[in-house]
Amino acid sequence: MTLNSPQASFRKPVYLDYAASTPVAPQVAAKMAECLTREGNFANPASRSHVFGWQAEEAVENARAQLAALVGADTREIVWTSGATEANNLALKGVAEAHRSQKSTNDEKLGHIVVSAIEHKAVLDPIAWLEEQGFSVTRLQPTNEGIITPENLQDALRDDTFLVSLMQVNNELGSINDIKALSALCKTRGILFHCDAAQGVGKIAVNVKDLNVDLLSISGHKFYGPKGIGALYVRRSGDVKIAAQIHGGGHERNMRSGTLATHQCVGIGEAAELAQSSLDDEQRRIAELRDLLWQGISDLPNIKRNGSSSQTVSGILNVSFANDVSQGCDGEMLLLSLRDLAVSSGSACNSASMSPSYVLKAIGLNDVEAQASLRFSVGRYTTREEIEFAIEHIRATVTKLLRTQI
Ligand SMILES: Cc1ncc(COP(=O)(O)O)c(C=O)c1O
Repeated sequence: MTLNSPQASFRKPVYLDYAASTPVAPQVAAKMAECLTREGNFANPASRSHVFGWQAEEAVENARAQLAALVGADTREIVWTSGATEANNLALKGVAEAHRSQKSTNDEKLGHIVVSAIEHKAVLDPIAWLEEQGFSVTRLQPTNEGIITPENLQDALRDDTFLVSLMQVNNELGSINDIKALSALCKTRGILFHCDAAQGVGKIAVNVKDLNVDLLSISGHKFYGPKGIGALYVRRSGDVKIAAQIHGGGHERNMRSGTLATHQCVGIGEAAELAQSSLDDEQRRIAELRDLLWQGISDLPNIKRNGSSSQTVSGILNVSFANDVSQGCDGEMLLLSLRDLAVSSGSACNSASMSPSYVLKAIGLNDVEAQASLRFSVGRYTTREEIEFAIEHIRATVTKLLRTQI
């Protein structure tokens, strides 16, 4: 499609919000559809007394093996959840509860947890809840590239630290933490390490053994699987104890009860296999498109790239279009004016409010810069034509806004 063709005026905005969610891959949708109706694999995977149940169980276990293979885990280490939010809650509250139950009742101090200040709300909110229950919490400040350094973590560890939770890839910036170096500090002290890898799995190589993590959260809809399914990797070891947060039947080896959704499990499993087979080529192509986008807009006035340009995932580009009130675009006007692009102003979960992103503020941006920032995220189905269209649209919009604001 050329930009001058009648189709050039895209009926829908160009989708550049793959970090918020990805469409289900057609192959994945086809496999899922086989697990819904009477002719298909619809039964309860926990039904042990007939062939329908056995077949559903086989499909769920096959999917578990596909997901385990993507992250280098043993199949028995994958616990199905509804997504990364639930996986994070299970990891954090589950470990904290198990830790508390080991303490004597007259011990007033419950113990210490370390996280970063720029974790997703799906970590920060359960952590705030645990703090209300009496656990002590340290929130690490990142570098101005959005990275947590081993030195930073080392300084925060205490004798009573029992859990560290640090994300692999930041969802707003794309910056990547060196999880292996960070978890190594915890291993030597017997501290459990949880990693929210919702933005990493399916996009960069993730191997739980190599990263040396105890717990790792995964989300299906970030890598072309369905929404409503994810998993928690739980290392098989006597040291890793988690208390269930959902009770009712003892599914998932007593860690997470509830009838498994065969179609969702099959969907994430298929998505995992697809991701594994195309990881390197796909990421190379996506990085080229992300770079093309940045090159096409980087000479606009007052523009700045946020995060790290080297330690980053290929799909995310976070850009500020202003540096103070008098110089640059008004953030709200910019988002409203870029009607032909579907992008995010910070984290998707924050986009309902226009309060400046806590992630951007933590890496040193002022309110104006943070509010005039956009996250563009490129994915599997993004085309060169779409990026060229986005460049033209951004350039025209910013130029017009700057002219009218003078
Ligand atoms: C880093 C991170 N953690 C957790 C989540 C929540 O994942 P889910 O939508 O699967 O609950 C997201 C989703 O945006 C994320 O980016």
